[in-house]
Amino acid sequence: MKIITNIAEMKKISKDLKKSSRRISFIPTMGKLHNGHVKLIEKGKEYGDVIVSIFVNPAQFGPDEDFNNYPRDFENDSKILKDLNIGYLFHPAADIVKNTETFLIDPEYSNRLEGVFRPAHFQGVLTIVMKLFCIINPDFAFFGLKDYQQYILIKKMVEDYFLDIEVMPVPTVREKCGLAMSSRNAYFNEDDKKIACNFYKSLKKTADLFKAGETSGEKLTVSTIKELIKSGFKIDYLKIMDKGLNIEKQSVEAGDILLAAARFKGVRLIDNIFFE
Ligand code: PAJ
Repeated sequence: MKIITNIAEMKKISKDLKKSSRRISFIPTMGKLHNGHVKLIEKGKEYGDVIVSIFVNPAQFGPDEDFNNYPRDFENDSKILKDLNIGYLFHPAADIVKNTETFLIDPEYSNRLEGVFRPAHFQGVLTIVMKLFCIINPDFAFFGLKDYQQYILIKKMVEDYFLDIEVMPVPTVREKCGLAMSSRNAYFNEDDKKIACNFYKSLKKTADLFKAGETSGEKLTVSTIKELIKSGFKIDYLKIMDKGLNIEKQSVEAGDILLAAARFKGVRLIDNIFFE
C-alpha cells in the first residue's frame, strides 16, 4: 500500500489511474478505523481502485469539541488497510485546510439537526470533502448512512457543483447490541458501552411502534425522549423528518426517518432509523 502525504503526488496518482482507464472509489475518513469504515471500503472495492483518506479535519470541530482528543491510531489504521489490500492511503498534513479563505457553506441546513448543535460543522465537512474530491477526482465516493445529514449534504454539493462523482450510501454497521459503530465509542468503558446500546434500542422500539400502527410524530418521539432521559442520555435532538430532511413530520409515513443525537457520559452519539 502506498501512503501519500503530498497533495501534488496524490493528484498525479489519481490522474495516472484515470489515464489508464481505472475507476476510482474514494472513502474519506478521520481514521481510528472500525468495521463501519471497513464496510465502506469493501463496497468501494466492488466499484474500482480504492483510495482511502485519513485526516482529522480541524475545520469541522467546534471550539469546545474533541479535536485534540479525537482518537488517532495511524499505525493500526495502516495495518487494517494493508490487510484489506488497499492500494492507496492519502494522509495529508494540516496545511490542506490551513489558511483556507473560501469555505463551502449551507445556510439552510446549518439551522437544522446537527447544524443547530455544531454550527460550523458542515461548513468544515463540505470544505474538506470538496478539497479531497478536487485532489482525487473519484468516480465513486462512499458515505455511511449513520451520518445521514452529512450524506444528504454531500449529495447536494455534488449536484450543485456538477461534479461527476457518484455518491454511494452505505448502511450503518452496528455492534451486536445495536450501537452504531463509531470512532468515538473508544471513549466508553465496557459498562458505559452497555448502557449506550440503549440509544439504538430506543430508536428501534419507536420504529416498531410505527409498524404497529402509531403514526403521530409527537407520540412516537415523546415516549422515546422520556425513555432515553431515564437511561441517562442528554438529548440534543430527536426528530422525525422526511427523507430529504426538509420538514419535520407530524403525521409519520413509511420512508420517513427518525434522527437523534444525544450525549452519554460526555460522549456524543448520533444515529437514525427509517420507518418501514
Ligand atoms: P468518519 O467519522 O471517520 O467517518 C468516515 C465515513 O464512515 C463516513 O462516511 C461515515 O458516515 C462512515 N461511518 C462511520 N461509522 C459508520 C458505521 N457505523 N456504519 C457505516 N458507516 C459509518 O464522517 C467523517 O469521518 C468526516 O466527516 C469526513 C467525511 C471524513 C470529512 O472529514
